[in-house]
Amino acid sequence: MALVTTKEMFKKAYAGGYAIGAFNINNMEITQAITEAAAELKSPVILQVSAGARKYAKPAYLKALAEAAIEDTGIDVALHLDHGADFEICKACVDSGFTSVMIDGSQYSFEENVALTKKVVEYAHAHGVVVEGELGVLAGIEDDVKVDESEAKFTDPAEAERFVELTGVDSLAIAIGTSHGAYKFKSEPQLRFDILEEIGRRLPGFPIVLHGASSVVPEYVEEINACGGKLEGAIGVPEEMLRKAASMAVCKINIDSDIRLAMTAGIRRVLSNQPDVFDPRTYLSVGREEVKKMVAHKIKNVLGSAGTL
Ligand code: G3H
Ligand code: 13P
Ligand code: ZN
Repeated sequence: MALVTTKEMFKKAYAGGYAIGAFNINNMEITQAITEAAAELKSPVILQVSAGARKYAKPAYLKALAEAAIEDTGIDVALHLDHGADFEICKACVDSGFTSVMIDGSQYSFEENVALTKKVVEYAHAHGVVVEGELGVLAGIEDDVKVDESEAKFTDPAEAERFVELTGVDSLAIAIGTSHGAYKFKSEPQLRFDILEEIGRRLPGFPIVLHGASSVVPEYVEEINACGGKLEGAIGVPEEMLRKAASMAVCKINIDSDIRLAMTAGIRRVLSNQPDVFDPRTYLSVGREEVKKMVAHKIKNVLGSAGTL
């Protein structure tokens, strides 16, 4: 049991037509819920840390939480930097023991993105760490930055092929219509599977990553709203679309919003049904249990990674 890279996970996932869940961690309860579900279902898992998580929980706590989860559950996990904004943060994570980093140069020109990603790849590979790049621009909210649908840009398959060749990245996040947050589609959900298929054809065996892939589980949205919340028009990626993507070149599926919704639904349920409760352990335990159930459901029915450890 150790922190491992995603290399073997992705190789097996690609061959097996399934994907690995990359779940964002922000506190102890979330970390426990994810790793307990993965351990019980004998599934590989990626724990990822965003800039927001580092600001909220501090890097030292997050690293210690991942290590504690490994010790407690006995499974291997990959510890991944989510949306690394520059070389310095990627280097800091490599130096502190992360096994995977993402350099997100998607807002730059192709050439600038290549140069930045290549620099991170050189440093990370020299330290045994794998790198995820990103090409194309997702809509939605990410680290407090809102990208409007009109500014989003689907990934060009020919550019993706060149990007991988030029940078040496180990995996690539692409834009095919998913987006960050709980409000992903204004009307019928649609993903550009034709782009994914063409990228898979041009880069055989190469792991593709899907960001913004929460389903925005309707039951949680309903329960949150029934318990005093106000999430109007929240809509995510249908699970059957994620299943299809996982059977294609997608080997990593990023999920954060569904964790937030599961935890919030559990906590709101306790606080609205038992107004006398004021022990955080009471409502946080229920929130944790909901996250665990949600992660287990994804592993079994969406990612298809159960029993592959
Ligand atoms: O990509 C976005 C993730 O959901 C992380 O969001 O920076 O608010 O933690 P965050
Ligand atoms: P969601 O907001 O759909 O959960 O996406 C999370 C993500 O892509 C983290 O990088
Ligand atoms: Zn993301």
